[in-house]
Amino acid sequence: MPTPESTLLQSWHHNAQPWIEAIRAGTIESRHQVTDQAILLAVLGRQPERVLDLGCGEGWLLRALTDRSIDAVGVDGETSLVEAARAAGPSRVHLASYEALVEGNVDIGRDYNLICANFALLHQDIIPLLAAMNALLAPGGALVVQTLHPWTAAAGDYQDGWRQESFAGFKGQWQPMPWYFRTLSSWLNALDMAGFRLIGLQEPQHPQSPVPQSLLLVAQGQAQ
Ligand SMILES: C[S@@+](CC[C@H](N)C(=O)[O-])C[C@H]1O[C@@H](n2cnc3c(N)ncnc32)[C@H](O)[C@@H]1O
Repeated sequence: MPTPESTLLQSWHHNAQPWIEAIRAGTIESRHQVTDQAILLAVLGRQPERVLDLGCGEGWLLRALTDRSIDAVGVDGETSLVEAARAAGPSRVHLASYEALVEGNVDIGRDYNLICANFALLHQDIIPLLAAMNALLAPGGALVVQTLHPWTAAAGDYQDGWRQESFAGFKGQWQPMPWYFRTLSSWLNALDMAGFRLIGLQEPQHPQSPVPQSLLLVAQGQAQ
């Protein structure tokens, strides 16, 4: 019986091509209106020299950082997305699942000034992965996570649990993706349990939208 986690990563195998097309054509409105800029500014604002983009997908953020002379390294568990990221920019992009990163099976470098995860923490047990990322940060390094805003995404059911994204309204053939909804306190607890200290919280919002488009958390790594 497949776990939601394995179905989640497998859905990216199926959805890689339409995802690459959607990102590169800029068809996801919330991204090009609000959230791309939000994560980019949050990362640039910390003036990092070396950045790891965790769950980098097809690599748009790596390219945006490289364009600004930042040494950006990516890692993702989906082969086609990693290949697309490698082909589209000069960044090193590692192929590794989060499970492999937790087990320390893959060397993806260390001493990063900043690790970011843009809509890439979609599974349930994120604490071991966050703790593994904490160990890859240089002293004083930070983690920047952008995710679905819990209040906007709750849809009337504000408790941690698996949900399903159907990609209705997206162009192309998509396989539904399980993802784990977590409340704001659950996010903050996960950061704390992984040895991070929250130093910033933003709710990026379009001026013409009544609800925030995302939740953006900035946390300082700490010795564990
Ligand atoms: C919504 S996409 C975000 C991609 C990219 N950060 C962006 O902003 O476009 C989620 C990414 O997480 C990756 N991912 C999900 N589960 C994973 C896992 N268990 N191991 C490695 N990567 C995973 C997927 O392959 C996908 O690229």
